[in-house]
Amino acid sequence: MATNFVPKRHTILFLALVLATTTYLAKATDLKETQLSLYFQDISAFGNPNATVIPVAGIAGKAWTFTQFGTVYVTDDYITETSDPKSPEVGRAQGMYVTAGLDGLNSHVMISVVFTNKEYNGSTIQIQGISKQFDSVREVAVVAGTGIFRFARGYATFETYFLDIPTQYSVIRCNVTVQHY
Ligand SMILES: *[C@@H]1O[C@H](CO)[C@@H](O)[C@H](O)[C@H]1NC(C)=O
Ligand SMILES: *[C@@H]1O[C@H](CO)[C@@H](O)[C@H](O)[C@H]1NC(C)=O
Ligand SMILES: *[C@@H]1O[C@H](CO)[C@@H](O)[C@H](O)[C@H]1NC(C)=O
Repeated sequence: MATNFVPKRHTILFLALVLATTTYLAKATDLKETQLSLYFQDISAFGNPNATVIPVAGIAGKAWTFTQFGTVYVTDDYITETSDPKSPEVGRAQGMYVTAGLDGLNSHVMISVVFTNKEYNGSTIQIQGISKQFDSVREVAVVAGTGIFRFARGYATFETYFLDIPTQYSVIRCNVTVQHY
């Protein structure tokens, strides 16, 4: 009796494994890849009432700057379709930057791209990781997403596209490549 039972049980397990594998493969091939170029309208001048990135905490007795370890910034940049600030709105880049390198070179980025345009309205992309803030191209991971971008994974590059030093107004191009279902 026992010897009859064992092969049957193996057969069931084998079929379950085959089924699980084919379901997994079918899901993997459903992955889509989306590439986006987003333009962040960024004003970082300290004391400007229109600033979109503001230091909110830092080490007591030290200046709160991008190059000072421990400085925490909160940001809410307007995102546009092209570099022109008057071009159609795509969404907002809301989150935080923390100067996380003791030498002041690396910034830890935690940003949600919150889409408000017609195509992706209500969906988000989560960008998180170290940005070598003085490199001309900074690559940061895309770790997750919501809505259309559920299960998103990928990477984003940041480039300073335009910078006006006196007003600290800059346009940052963020290219996103994500795979999602
Ligand atoms: C802030 O924005 C308003 C409205 O766009 C503008 O009139 C004003 O000049 C800006 N202030 C500064 C300091 O840039
Ligand atoms: C995005 O969704 C909100 C809330 O559902 C809605 O009020 C808004 O009109 C939508 N925007 C676009 C561009 O579709
Ligand atoms: C970002 O995308 C644009 C095209 O939209 C391209 O010209 C540019 O080279 C890209 N930047 C990087 C760092 O890949």
